[in-house]
Amino acid sequence: MESKHKLTTFSLFTFTFTFSLLLSLSSSLSPSSSPLPSPTLPSPSLPPTHASLDPKQITALQSLSIPTSRDPCIQPSFHNATLCDSSSPFRHLISLRLTNCSSDLEISTTALSSLSTLRSLSIINCPSLPTPHLPASLALNLLSFSSLHSLRRLSSVFLSRLRSLTHLEVSDTPVNASGPSIILGSMKFLRSVTISNANLTGRLPKRWGPNLNLTHLDFSHNNIKGTLPGSISLLSDLELLNLSSNALSGAIPDSFGELLMLKNLSLSSNSMSGPIPDSISEIPGLVHLDLSSNQFNGTLPKFLEKMKSLKYLNLGNNNFNGVMPFNTSFIKRLVLFNVGGNTDLCYNHSIVSSKLKLGIARCDKDGLPVSSPPDSSSDSSYDDDSSDDSSDDDDDDGSSSSSRKSDHHHGPSRIVLGVAIGLSAIAFLIVFLVLLSKCCK
Ligand SMILES: *[C@@H]1O[C@H](CO)[C@@H](O)[C@H](O)[C@H]1NC(C)=O
Ligand SMILES: *[C@@H]1O[C@H](CO)[C@@H](O)[C@H](O)[C@H]1NC(C)=O
Ligand SMILES: *[C@@H]1O[C@H](CO)[C@@H](O)[C@H](O)[C@H]1NC(C)=O
Ligand SMILES: *[C@@H]1O[C@H](CO)[C@@H](O)[C@H](O)[C@H]1NC(C)=O
Ligand SMILES: *[C@@H]1O[C@H](CO)[C@@H](O)[C@H](O)[C@H]1NC(C)=O
Ligand SMILES: *[C@@H]1O[C@H](CO)[C@@H](O)[C@H](O)[C@H]1NC(C)=O
Ligand SMILES: *[C@@H]1O[C@H](CO)[C@@H](O)[C@H](O)[C@H]1NC(C)=O
Ligand SMILES: *[C@@H]1O[C@H](CO)[C@@H](O)[C@H](O)[C@H]1NC(C)=O
Ligand SMILES: *[C@@H]1O[C@H](CO)[C@@H](O)[C@H](O)[C@H]1NC(C)=O
Ligand SMILES: *[C@@H]1O[C@H](CO)[C@@H](O)[C@H](O)[C@H]1NC(C)=O
Repeated sequence: MESKHKLTTFSLFTFTFTFSLLLSLSSSLSPSSSPLPSPTLPSPSLPPTHASLDPKQITALQSLSIPTSRDPCIQPSFHNATLCDSSSPFRHLISLRLTNCSSDLEISTTALSSLSTLRSLSIINCPSLPTPHLPASLALNLLSFSSLHSLRRLSSVFLSRLRSLTHLEVSDTPVNASGPSIILGSMKFLRSVTISNANLTGRLPKRWGPNLNLTHLDFSHNNIKGTLPGSISLLSDLELLNLSSNALSGAIPDSFGELLMLKNLSLSSNSMSGPIPDSISEIPGLVHLDLSSNQFNGTLPKFLEKMKSLKYLNLGNNNFNGVMPFNTSFIKRLVLFNVGGNTDLCYNHSIVSSKLKLGIARCDKDGLPVSSPPDSSSDSSYDDDSSDDSSDDDDDDGSSSSSRKSDHHHGPSRIVLGVAIGLSAIAFLIVFLVLLSKCCK
């Protein structure tokens, strides 16, 4: 009980650690924290120029409740909300971040038309803000646009006017569009797009383009239907593809292995089926592979064990079958490994330690799962931060609890057998002595 508690605390710690790592990574990648994707950013360490901000833009900032008593061009600005260029006689805003707006804030057309020098606009945590109408000059000037838990609704008309974007990030904001194509179709220069938890419907484009230089595509948590088209392999710069929590069906296309730059892939929580295609083995730098909670089937390919970069492998809650081909050293090398919830999958106990608690049954000699798989999905994933001293504790814990579940293991069963033989020998001896003493009275 106590060691189980220890284990839970330990995985909680690992989870928190992973989560904060993700957070810091995502904030360092997101356009909102590096507000300007262009290299013309004035460095905050430059000596302040004597020019100050364009008075029209000062008025605009005031209408947006951004304090201007101190020059908004001096870095770091109030909540890093503003960033300026270094033109003269007046400097101009190139980045604006609105955060935690008051519920009665509205962005006036006058304010927006004086802000057309912006290259980056982020709106964070302003859910009741009405969607502003961007003047054409501003819409065309923007390289980066983010709306995180903000704006009541975004339409495809609003988004498709932002033709110069390289970064688009929309999450927790409903998007009304017939599908991703109508949004992406007009953005030739797009490199990174996130439209997540936005109720986005429709299907993935069969024809990609014009933006074939995408590196980051995240449409997680939407209602996208249909299949993953083979033409996705045209996005040859893609490093991250996240389509988790949608309504996708069908198989992973064979051409998928042409995405040679791919590092992170999640197709989790869809209705996809079929095997893991062999072409996946051609992706040299794959770090994160999450296919969990689908209906993928067939056997698990052994080549995954040879993929040197792989750190996170989640294949749980699918219909995989047969003997799991991975050995203990591979599983221990990973930060996360999960194959639980595949009822026809089993592990070979001469290759994989039963201490790992994989959430699948042991194989019999024909390679079929014996009896029912071990219980509890909460224990089914193996999670290790590769610290050695704590894994000793885990192992002790594992052997004691798994010997309870099954008596086929070598060590424990020998002990049990020995004790049983010893006890029956003693009992026999006692009976024999009693009988002996009776008969000789
Ligand atoms: C990619 O996956 C790795 C391993 O799970 C993770 O550490 C990293 O943060 C992910 N990168 C992105 C951009 O999500
Ligand atoms: C502003 O940005 C700088 C550098 O990115 C960061 O160190 C600082 O914490 C930020 N300040 C606020 C209030 O967000
Ligand atoms: C916005 O509000 C959140 C909490 O609601 C707070 O953590 C954050 O610092 C605020 N950000 C700014 C820039 O005011
Ligand atoms: C979504 O857009 C369609 C047409 O583009 C429109 O008919 C419909 O009313 C919009 N829905 C909402 C909730 O705005
Ligand atoms: C996309 O990348 C290719 C080569 O990698 C380059 O020739 C092309 O100009 C890029 N397109 C855009 C729109 O950046
Ligand atoms: C998502 O869209 C459906 C219809 O397509 C609608 O009924 C639902 O209210 C929307 N949810 C949100 C959060 O906008
Ligand atoms: C995909 O998106 C989901 C939800 O937005 C997130 O939890 C998950 O970490 C992402 N996975 C990758 C590989 O980026
Ligand atoms: C996987 O499932 C599909 C139907 O969903 C079936 O046609 C196919 O034969 C299955 N493949 C294997 C290897 O079980
Ligand atoms: C596990 O498999 C890998 C790759 O197939 C191999 O290099 C390694 O020697 C194996 N380890 C053990 C302990 O069998
Ligand atoms: C388990 O592994 C052993 C040793 O490699 C092998 O002899 C045996 O056939 C395997 N059993 C199954 C069911 O694959």
